[in-house]
Order: sequence, then C-alpha cells, then structure tokens
Amino acid sequence: MDVYGLVGDPVGHSLSPPMHEAAYDAVGMDARYVTFEPDDAAAAVAGAADLGVAGLNVTVPFKEAALDAVDPDPVAARVGAVNTVDFSTDPPTGTNTDVAGVERAFTHHDVDPAGATAVVVGAGGAARAAAFALAEPTAALHVANRTAERAEALAADVRESVGGEVTAGGLDSLAESVPDADLLVNATSVGMETDETPVPADLLHADLAVLDAVYAPLDTRLLREARAAGATTVDGAWMLLYQGAEAFERWTGEEAPVAAMNRALRAELG
Ligand code: ATR
Repeated sequence: MDVYGLVGDPVGHSLSPPMHEAAYDAVGMDARYVTFEPDDAAAAVAGAADLGVAGLNVTVPFKEAALDAVDPDPVAARVGAVNTVDFSTDPPTGTNTDVAGVERAFTHHDVDPAGATAVVVGAGGAARAAAFALAEPTAALHVANRTAERAEALAADVRESVGGEVTAGGLDSLAESVPDADLLVNATSVGMETDETPVPADLLHADLAVLDAVYAPLDTRLLREARAAGATTVDGAWMLLYQGAEAFERWTGEEAPVAAMNRALRAELG
C-alpha cells in the first residue's frame, strides 16, 4: 500500500483526504491519504522519505518552510512556496500545484487567459499562485490588495521573474482595473463564511470571467453578483480540485480521475 498525505496545521477538516482517496478508488490504487500536524514541517518533510511516504501535500502555515526540505522546481521557486512533494527523487522535489489549479480551473470553463487582461485581488499565498499562473499567458496583470504595499511587492516579484505589464494598487484601484478586465480572481479571504465581497458589484460585467478562491460557501456573494452581471463564474472548489489533480498526476504519472475527485469534493462541501 502506498501512503500519501498532507502536512499542515490545522488539517483536521481538510478536504484533501476524501478527494485523493476517491481518486485511488476510481483508478484501483492500493493507497491511503493521511494528515499530519508536525511541530517542525521541514523536519517532517525531510523524514517522510525514510518512512516510505510516496508523496506529500503541504498547506498553511508550512508552504514556505517546506522550500528548505526539497529541491524546488522553477514554479515553486518563483512562487516561494511548496504545496506538493514528490519523494521519487533524491532529494525530494517540491512544486506548487496551486498555480496549475488556477490555470486548469479557468481552462475547465473554456476561459483562455492568453492575451487577456487580468486582475488578482489579494497578496497572500493564494494571490501569489494566481498572479504567477496568469502573468505569463495574459497581456496585462493588475494586483489589488487592501494593503497596497503588499500588492506592489507581489507585482515587483512577478515583473522580475516573468516580466510583462504588471501593475498594483489598493482596493480602490479596482474601480479602474475591473471594468477593462477579462479575468478576475478573488484570492483574499473576504467572503469566507461571510456574505461580503472585495469587489463592488457595479464594476462587474458580462465580458468578465470570475474565479473566487473562497470555497466556503461555494456560491459567494462575489460569484452571485458576477453571475447577475452576466459574467462567467468559477467557484473555489475548481481550484482545489485541480491543484489536487495536478499533485496526483505528479505522484503517479497517470491522468487524474477528475470527475470522481470532483464528486467527492462537492459531496464534502455540500
Ligand atoms: P493566504 O496565504 O491564504 O492567501 P494571507 O496571506 O493571510 O492568506 O492573505 C489574505 C489576503 O486576504 C490578503 O491579501 C489580505 O489583505 P492584506 O494583505 O491587506 O492583509 C486579504 N484580506 C483579509 N481580510 C480582508 C478584508 N477584510 N478586506 C480586504 N482584504 C482582506
């Protein structure tokens, strides 16, 4: 039996175990997916290879610390965070599948970021993954965040490692950037368990595709207001699904059973 798992704190309510175990069932793999809350994440990741663990996901608050325990691939190095470790190499390889999660969530909905104008709201870990996912294919990227300095810092990182037109501002800059945008990602925690939105409804329009990284609730106020404006909407479970599918594919070399994983995830989310 192969053992995969998740390192984070807290991980008790994580959706990853049911999602990954649904994948193992769907493809007939003899494997389990378990959760760990270590004191020292880098030591736990480094030691997992000796225990015969085949692959690990890493979540909050350990994604940055995990960089020190792995050989980061170019995506993880750029984002500055690791969420997936593959122990088939020595040293283990770390990647960041949140980036592919954003790309594949859009692609699943026939939204093509190539040449688009994108706005990412937020400047934390989720926003970094979204900004690096969109910086390459899009023609222009704007980062807006409550703390404008954090948006500026993220935009500077993206400009340095990817290049292109990347601007930044506070949340007031949404008034200028969203009306001309094709893609909008909410990568803040606004809307999580509340009926708030970081983007005023009157800025939303029918030519926009909106991805909300918040998945509790699935139908956030931002997505409801985007739908009312005629926009294409992509809920946070798609991002969660595709970061997991990408991890499964890294570990197994096989195409992920996305439909089974999606069913399990949405059953958990109600
Ligand atoms: P994560 O790594 O999960 O993205 P994070 O680093 O804590 O989490 O980032 C949370 C994001 O949500 C930040 O962009 C934060 O804005 P600040 O950088 O100004 O803190 C944003 N955020 C959280 N609460 C917010 C609120 N009430 N209004 C606007 N933005 C908020």
